[in-house]
Amino acid sequence: MFDVNSVRKDFPILGSTVHGKPLAYFDNGATTQKPQCVIDAVVECYTKTNSNIHRGVHYLSDQSTEMYENARKNIQQFINARYSQEIIFTSGTTGSINAIAFSFGEKFVKAGDEILISAMEHHANIVPWQMLCERKNAKLKVIPVDENGELKLDAVDSLLTEKTKILAITHVSNVLGTVNPIKAIIDKAHKKGIPVLIDGAQSIQHVKIDVQELDCEFFVFSGHKIYAPTGIGILYGKEEWLNQMPPYQGGGDMVDCVTFEKTYYNSLPYKFEAGTTNYVDAVGLSVAIDYIKKLGFDNIAGYEKDLLEYATNKLQTIEGLKIYGTAADKGPVISFLLENIHPYDTGMILDKLGVAVRTGTHCAQPIMDFYEIEGTVRASMAFYNTFEEIDRLYEGLLRVKTMFG
Ligand code: ALA
Repeated sequence: MFDVNSVRKDFPILGSTVHGKPLAYFDNGATTQKPQCVIDAVVECYTKTNSNIHRGVHYLSDQSTEMYENARKNIQQFINARYSQEIIFTSGTTGSINAIAFSFGEKFVKAGDEILISAMEHHANIVPWQMLCERKNAKLKVIPVDENGELKLDAVDSLLTEKTKILAITHVSNVLGTVNPIKAIIDKAHKKGIPVLIDGAQSIQHVKIDVQELDCEFFVFSGHKIYAPTGIGILYGKEEWLNQMPPYQGGGDMVDCVTFEKTYYNSLPYKFEAGTTNYVDAVGLSVAIDYIKKLGFDNIAGYEKDLLEYATNKLQTIEGLKIYGTAADKGPVISFLLENIHPYDTGMILDKLGVAVRTGTHCAQPIMDFYEIEGTVRASMAFYNTFEEIDRLYEGLLRVKTMFG
């Protein structure tokens, strides 16, 4: 059985108080808290092994390089990539998508081509493609959603045309919690020979990912959403695609030989890792992954499902509360509005009660436009949340209603 009280002890911040109240942290979609083992790993790197990777012949540089490359192998195994050189360290999901949009776009996209995304994307999976479309005079197309926040799958076939160069889609919506049927969508794209990028920023922490089973060409995620440090993320790409794509940035480590006449690039994965990478937080990410593996995805998913169900049922009893995102398959995220109370007001009062939620557009303005709202209040849960914390969220909302309703 999943012992939440014991798990909570691994996260020092969860024991803190906010405005004199115990912290109830429901902003896990924005970033997750870090277990002590991850914090310790980062401190240990700086206190015992810190040295730049791939650059020295001395002991510390060797140690640091080995830890970094072992982290890469651990992540390869975690998402079941075929080769470790298919794992590129980046600064996060946004960094990964920008790198692909630029590099893939340089090689494969020309005027008149189309890029397909969905209506529920985060800005990080919209803007880099828009920038590419502007550069290349290509066209951005969008898979629509229905009122429940589910993709209109019927539209996908007709939107995937001979002009579509790539389909870039989120696995789980950061606003609505919708879990998209990505395997079926990938298969549809592949039938037409179109590569697929999956934005795993909101799925990597909740479900087991197997990139070979999914067969996606690219999969990206951020460390900080999976209990690892900020500033580290992953770009997974199939070797045959990454090999064809030009580097995104130039600098140290990504080169084989440089002259003023011509530069020859390094092989994968280094071709895409210009400059000194975030080698310390790569180790932190690896430790976070070990921690998650120890808890087990079945345990995590089962407990988070119970939290979502409990929270949904409880919040739905509040008259005037409307949930946005009612897909049949959802991650542990509830976006809502309470009567006509501004989300910031709701968020501010909850904060005073020690309950942390996110308010606003959640970096996904187009989906707000679809629902014709300015923003929502979002409670995004993790395996360390408790049913008692959900009760406090509920009580807090009743208080907000009394004050502003
Ligand atoms: N993308 C993050 C969120 O959904 C920041 O909150």
